[in-house]
Amino acid sequence: MMLRKPVFAANWKMNHGPTDAKAFLRTFLVHYARRADRTVAFFPPALTLPAVTDALRDRSDILVGVQNIHWEPKGAFTGEVSAPIARDAGARLVLVGHSERRHIFGETDEQTGLKCAAVAAAGLVPVLCVGEKLDERERGMEEAVVVRQLRAGVARLQPGQIATALVAYEPVWAIGTGRTASPNDASAMHAVVRRVLKELAGERAAHIPVLYGGSVSRGNVAELISAPEVDGVLVGGASLDADGWATIVRA
Ligand code: 13P
Repeated sequence: MMLRKPVFAANWKMNHGPTDAKAFLRTFLVHYARRADRTVAFFPPALTLPAVTDALRDRSDILVGVQNIHWEPKGAFTGEVSAPIARDAGARLVLVGHSERRHIFGETDEQTGLKCAAVAAAGLVPVLCVGEKLDERERGMEEAVVVRQLRAGVARLQPGQIATALVAYEPVWAIGTGRTASPNDASAMHAVVRRVLKELAGERAAHIPVLYGGSVSRGNVAELISAPEVDGVLVGGASLDADGWATIVRA
């Protein structure tokens, strides 16, 4: 029995406005019929979210989320979007602690913990992103970094809330570089993630999907998702083209 069905998640980052998104989904939906054996999710820019939820109104099988939120539910935080606002706009998932948030915008471990708690409090599902930088791997610190990020990200969640979250392992050196982790390296780190999740959430942790991200393409997706412990993929660049993405989700 398959405990966790594979998740194929598209992180569009700062790409595709509402007009592009509508055209993308017209093409994508022709090529991707509903399938019970996998989950597909889109993370468009926040302003594109309504166009995506509208285009997917007859496709409740496809999930939609936002790429970031502020941890406060509302208030004087110019430029920010809260979890309740994201939920009201149709989001069901929220990426938390993506490496670009951490390393370009200075997001801290503490903030990822606050954000995951805010996401769960709003009734949404956090997708906590963790991953080491190249120099950290070169110094043999990859496990310590990932475990630290993981523990901090879920620190304010109850075990039951942890059990409904998703985790994405995205080594920073593999993001947008064309250099993927080998299926063995991904599996090894996913096993570490699962061990920590089990310690924190007990047997329920067996249901938490742990995704891999970093230069996933139509050429390597099948090999990656068949690796032990890899429960799906979080894809940036290769999710931007509708035909290419339809090929990936059918892997
Ligand atoms: P790429 O697939 O472009 O390497 O990006 C990965 C990523 O950051 C997904 O969140």
